[in-house]
Amino acid sequence: MAIREIIRLDNPVLRKKAHRVTSFDKKFQQLVDDMVETMLDAPGVGLAAPQVAVSQRLIVVRLPDDEDSRQEYGDEAGKLYVVANPEIIKASKEMVEGVEGCLSIPGYVGTVDRHEKVTVTGLDRHGKPLRVKATGWLARVFQHEIDHLDGRLYIDIAKEVWQPKAEDEAEESQP
Ligand code: NI
Repeated sequence: MAIREIIRLDNPVLRKKAHRVTSFDKKFQQLVDDMVETMLDAPGVGLAAPQVAVSQRLIVVRLPDDEDSRQEYGDEAGKLYVVANPEIIKASKEMVEGVEGCLSIPGYVGTVDRHEKVTVTGLDRHGKPLRVKATGWLARVFQHEIDHLDGRLYIDIAKEVWQPKAEDEAEESQP
């Protein structure tokens, strides 16, 4: 495993529509492992392959598993999701406003409306179909990461973007 460089806003790969994953070979497994390691190291709650300059439709998501998170998110805390070719097949009409950041845009956060609930389908790291029902923060992270696969960033849809004063405030919850 290795930590890969997270690319920034100035890198055009972030703006490309990523290609579907078609091979679940050794190289792909390495990419998955590296993305998980890179996300945990950052630390972040989600990462999309374009953020490590690989234009493939692959995301990894993991909410923190500290005491507070366990109380708030239950079984979802600390659970690792690896999804290739993710699709949102169902989304609640209800939208919720929340603050999010992005590892590719350090030092900034913004207010974004997201669906309160989404159902995501896709393939696991071995190519087997999977389905995830996500609500709240987890649903927000999935929507943020899937947007990355189409070259869309939260700053494109944010109602407001700003630089939090304290560094650690910005670091806590960045997908
Ligand atoms: Ni992001």
